Amino acid sequence: MDRELARLDRAHLVHGFGSPAQTDRDGTVRLVKGRGIHVWDSEGRRYVDGVASLWNVNVGHGRAEIARAIAKQARAIEYAPTLIGFSSEPAIRLAARIAKMAPKGLNRVLFAGGGSESNETAIRLVRLLASLSGRPKKTGIVALTRAYHGSSTGAASLTGLESFHVHYKPLMSGVFRMARPDCYRCELGKTYPECGLACADELERLVEREGADRIGAFIAEPVQGVGGVIPPPPGWLARIREICDRYDILLIADEVITGFGRLGRNFGVQAAKVVPDMIVFAKGVTSGYVPLGGVILHERLYQIILDAGEEFVLHHGYTYSGHPVACAAGLANLDVLEGEDLIGGVRRKAKPFAKALRKLECHPIVGQVRTAGLMGAVELVRNPETRQPFPAREKVPWRVRQAALRRGVILRAGLSFVVVCPPFVITDEQIEDIVGRLDEAIADVEAELGY
Ligand SMILES: Cc1ncc(COP(=O)(O)O)c(C=O)c1O
Repeated sequence: MDRELARLDRAHLVHGFGSPAQTDRDGTVRLVKGRGIHVWDSEGRRYVDGVASLWNVNVGHGRAEIARAIAKQARAIEYAPTLIGFSSEPAIRLAARIAKMAPKGLNRVLFAGGGSESNETAIRLVRLLASLSGRPKKTGIVALTRAYHGSSTGAASLTGLESFHVHYKPLMSGVFRMARPDCYRCELGKTYPECGLACADELERLVEREGADRIGAFIAEPVQGVGGVIPPPPGWLARIREICDRYDILLIADEVITGFGRLGRNFGVQAAKVVPDMIVFAKGVTSGYVPLGGVILHERLYQIILDAGEEFVLHHGYTYSGHPVACAAGLANLDVLEGEDLIGGVRRKAKPFAKALRKLECHPIVGQVRTAGLMGAVELVRNPETRQPFPAREKVPWRVRQAALRRGVILRAGLSFVVVCPPFVITDEQIEDIVGRLDEAIADVEAELGY
């Protein structure tokens, strides 16, 4: 049966975020069961899920209470739109609950299916608000280098990773690129704190150069995830907020990874004490049990839409915006987060997590360990002194990831780093265990490389 599934997988199922040719050769790992921080494959092997699947299974695998909520809602009414004048109790209750968790003023929720779709909603809202405010040219969006915002066309255009652009042109126009706040490899060649947050001030220079009448929004992840777990220096986001205010630019926080607790607060912007105009969320809202995402819009901006009067029709929304089964899963997931104080747990575990991972800095190929809440990245370099990365063709992060997998830990390989981003239910001992196995995996690869 397993062989037959492997054959059908190769024959029919297309897998993204990997080389199709390589997947065709090597096949995939078929996961069949999950409990807490563990998952099992079809051959009965158990793995520690060190990345909460795709940074999303925050409450851990196999939660019966979420499964029950899904089944209960599917039995009551499996589907009800939130468009064309309909609604459903789970969608209403979840929107209200999300508004309560968000910073003050962020009050209105537009649901979507996942992170990319939610970013498409944010893009369309920027355009809509520019139009309704009588400034139709103010639609440009500033996004950061190495940002990840999704793989639909608009979201991929905001994404600052060349690999998402090279074969997929033309991109959406009106995207302006700015240096990310990366103190390890500062794109401006500066050093914090002497730099005085020059990378944030770049926004002002960009707006002056391109014209404030053309720039409608700035988007960033509170901590870049896919780009390498890049916590900005203190004060960076607050400075960005000041500049946005000065030029009447909307601040969009893409909290698809950081939302719902990953940084130890409901939303990452709350850790930075900044109130954005929109928060984009997905993953953690349901911990991945079913797809859901959305945008939380500031009340002040929603009033612009209301003020457009009854003549105006909001031509935006998806069939599955606020799907009742997904929203029921979201509510059950938030019950778990709150009931077990899992977000408080992230705050408590953040230090032991950082301390454990930092032990890896003694390796000759580890240039830096970065953490924020329960997100971590281990930067792999040829030479920690010069910070020279390995050539991409040597696939060093991937080799470390594979070595960890052989030791029963699932991690994620990035361009020059491996990610550790466990479910919130992980214990301090389990963190030590993951780091111990990663330590051995790095040593394996060092041996292969002749260190
Ligand atoms: C910050 C961020 N935004 C958007 C997305 C896209 O979300 P999705 O894959 O659900 O479309 C991701 C996915 O990893 C993400 O990390």
